[in-house]
Amino acid sequence: MSATLSFIHRFEPGTDRARAPLLLLHGTGGDETDLLPLGRAVAPGASLLAPRGQVLEHGQPRFFRRLAEGVFDEADLRARVDDLARFVAEARAAYGLPAPVALGFSNGANIAAATLLLRPEALAGAALVRAMVPLAEPPETDLGAKPVLILSGALDPIVPAANAQALAGQLARAGARVEHRTLPAGHGLGQADVTLLRSWLAADATDRAA
Ligand code: MLT
Repeated sequence: MSATLSFIHRFEPGTDRARAPLLLLHGTGGDETDLLPLGRAVAPGASLLAPRGQVLEHGQPRFFRRLAEGVFDEADLRARVDDLARFVAEARAAYGLPAPVALGFSNGANIAAATLLLRPEALAGAALVRAMVPLAEPPETDLGAKPVLILSGALDPIVPAANAQALAGQLARAGARVEHRTLPAGHGLGQADVTLLRSWLAADATDRAA
């Protein structure tokens, strides 16, 4: 099911209203279908909303431009965050959804982190897999205890450990309830991520229903 909105996307309606919808944000070279199986596995019954990034890098979709690996075009990033927040608002109206929890991988995790910092009203929380600091100088933001899970890889060749820690610090200082776990993994997403995502998302659904 997908209405005509400002991003090419897929929407799968959920069956469990206690669960927040998931906003699935793919990594570089992915598309709107990539994370649907992960979303179904880690949040059974949740509505799934999966846009395709609108930037092309050598033909590969991304959510914002970069100047080099890990070096971001922050002016483009800020504009793309606004575009994504507008899409989320459109999709909430079209599909009748509460604010989603973002589940982002790599480039998708980075735009999710930037969205928390720049447009916090767009998200109820976020699970950030292999995320790094998206903005050198984030604005003052009040995240009002929104839940954030960061899953980093100890052997990640793209995201240095100190960078992931800095992101956790930025989000915690902005008031998010941050859980940061570092797995014995590289940049790729593995079974340990799936297990941690599932239990974090289930605990969050229980909080909300309470
Ligand atoms: C990014 O550009 O967002 C990060 O370098 C992660 C990636 O997409 O490879």
